[in-house]
Amino acid sequence: MLDGKKVLYSGMQATGNLTIGNYFGALQNWVTLNEEYECFYGVMDLHSLTVRQNPTEFRQRARSLYALYVAAGLDPKKNCIYYQSHVSGHAELSWILNCFTYMGELNRMTQFKDKSARHADNINAGLYTYPVLMAADILLYQSDVVPVGADQKQHLEITRDIAERFNGIYGDVFTVPEPYIGKTGARIMSLQDATKKMSKSDENPNASIYLLDDLDAVLRKFKRAVTDSDNEIRYAEEKPGISNLIDIYSAATGKTVAEIEKEFDGKGYGDFKMAVGEAVVDVLRPLQERYNELLKDKEYINSCIKENDEKAQYFANKTLRKVQKKVGLTEKIR
Ligand code: TRP
Repeated sequence: MLDGKKVLYSGMQATGNLTIGNYFGALQNWVTLNEEYECFYGVMDLHSLTVRQNPTEFRQRARSLYALYVAAGLDPKKNCIYYQSHVSGHAELSWILNCFTYMGELNRMTQFKDKSARHADNINAGLYTYPVLMAADILLYQSDVVPVGADQKQHLEITRDIAERFNGIYGDVFTVPEPYIGKTGARIMSLQDATKKMSKSDENPNASIYLLDDLDAVLRKFKRAVTDSDNEIRYAEEKPGISNLIDIYSAATGKTVAEIEKEFDGKGYGDFKMAVGEAVVDVLRPLQERYNELLKDKEYINSCIKENDEKAQYFANKTLRKVQKKVGLTEKIR
């Protein structure tokens, strides 16, 4: 596409508050990708509708996610940061792709099984076809690569299957996306149970560090982080709590594991937890400052949204028209 760059696509749902897991695992690494790729990042608000939302809060959250993308360093002039729901092609292509996806395939999706177990009172069809909407997101922009965490790998696989099936019938319509392999972020675990991923929706507030947490609360949560009973700062499988803190410290400071082990050789857990907390606060403080400034500057954010919505719409429409034509829908009379 533009400048002959490959296309990279990703996004986050506008549900829950982002944690340092989202930051160190994704956002922090996205900010430099625009040098190599044409990047699209969506505020995935349509996906969020699979769970009942309070409309007012939901709108604020979506706006907050947009501002966090920018505050984290994604330049809206260099990256197309837009709202999924503002580009109608997502829903339109999703319908068409639904007709090229088998129930047997969707039945195998582990996230659907997990989510329907957790939301037994609201197993709606949207939850079931969620991966098809995700396929539409990715395929609309002829994306070459998609950075996704382990929990989304299966959805990328089904996207590839759908694209290949469609191409097999109609010729090369879609680029078949690959998982992004490159510097991927750290996998940050819960501070209360380091065998579990840090989550946006943990009931225990001490388990997750939210990007918009009060900075004193951040230090407090690190002080309370669950570790083990020996007192050695060493990266090891049998020391998940300390290893997780080392990962966080490494992500926040850029230091390697070996450097960190050396730095804290002979020191106790108390000192180390304090240092990790402070390193994270050093990352969050400027991010929160930028975020608060951005939220005040309504016009700037609005202009970014408008411009990027239009850009996304342009590329989405190109693919959508092609697909409509291929499947034999009648062209509009112009
Ligand atoms: N399902 C993804 C998540 O919850 C969000 C998402 C929606 C996404 N559409 C996407 C991610 C397309 C990458 C590409 O994390």
